[in-house]
Amino acid sequence: MRAVYLDHAATTPLDLRVRRAMEPYLKSEFGNPSSLHRWGRRARMAIDAARETLAAALHADPAEICFVSSGTESCNLAVIGCALKAPANRRHILVSAVEHHCVLHAAEWLRPFGYEVEHIPVDRYGQVDPDAMRERIRDETWLVSVMHANNEIGTLQPVEAIARICKERGVWFHVDAVQTFGLLPVDVEAIGCDLLSVSAHKIYGPKGAGALYVRALTPLQPLMVGGGQERDRRAGTENVAGIVGFAEAVKLAEATRETEAQRLTQLRDRFIQTVRETIPNAILTGHPTERLPGNAHFRFVGVPADSLLIALDRAGIGASSGAACSAGSLEPSHVLLALGWDETAAQEGVRFTLGHDTTWDDLQYVVDVLCREVRRIRDKSTV
Ligand SMILES: Cc1ncc(COP(=O)(O)O)c(C=O)c1O
Repeated sequence: MRAVYLDHAATTPLDLRVRRAMEPYLKSEFGNPSSLHRWGRRARMAIDAARETLAAALHADPAEICFVSSGTESCNLAVIGCALKAPANRRHILVSAVEHHCVLHAAEWLRPFGYEVEHIPVDRYGQVDPDAMRERIRDETWLVSVMHANNEIGTLQPVEAIARICKERGVWFHVDAVQTFGLLPVDVEAIGCDLLSVSAHKIYGPKGAGALYVRALTPLQPLMVGGGQERDRRAGTENVAGIVGFAEAVKLAEATRETEAQRLTQLRDRFIQTVRETIPNAILTGHPTERLPGNAHFRFVGVPADSLLIALDRAGIGASSGAACSAGSLEPSHVLLALGWDETAAQEGVRFTLGHDTTWDDLQYVVDVLCREVRRIRDKSTV
């Protein structure tokens, strides 16, 4: 059966070249980077080189890169770690309503410790209005967290404008760039943020590796304690193979970033146009142009996402809804609710995210299956 994977925002396959770069560190180069002998020193050198690669890609200083286990850990460390350094009269945290749960839940985690968490609303495209955010900043505000691009609907945020406001008001600013890094330019100087999160498995690197950019002098309480690894910001023996793989994935992504983004944007736009022309009541979600190159998200009115996703899977197509599946029922997506959708509509959102191997032929097949299945599900519900 034909197999078309269109869930690259969830994860990507490991690039063969990344696997090759990692292999020595899973075999002969097994040293602990903290050891002083030659095995340890070689592992340390590999991590140092990887740190330089990430720093160069992000336009940061190598000392500002802290390796962690995932995008989730990176966002947790940024939000909780920075908040824990807030003085008692600065415990107001602002996060956008469409953040990934690893930011939203990290902020919620702080509430019992006396922190006030406020959600910044978004417009119908999912964008934060910098002026509306400016109005929410108070003397007590310590940290703002707004993502670079949304993982469900692909909308890009005006992070540069938000960073300028944060700077003016003396507020720390975290950007979750897990969905953009490797696909769009992510330059911490151009953005002007203090903290920025990235993850390896979204860019054809291994699972279990991520990083947090920490601008010099940004307050950060470590969440892992033990040894002094990562300049006392994250204790624990480093995942050397994962870190080496992450750096290789970054190099590969940076080498083809512009051409790949262009190719994906063209494919995406053609796919969006074809779906809208051939399927009645297919509504594009998110911003028409300010969106991730490979993201196409639709609401198929009257078609529950879970039924459609099962039908697509049967036809060999891997897509997703932003909704979390719990106890067999779909929770409406918080992102779609934040756009102002009602609960029924928020259960009708389906996301297709394109990647390196996606071709127009694949997408044409997806359109054909979508046409058939959307009609079938709609017909069934009207019987
Ligand atoms: C925007 C965003 N932030 C954070 C994460 C978490 O990254 P990880 O899967 O590496 O924990 C994801 C993953 O889906 C994401 O899309």
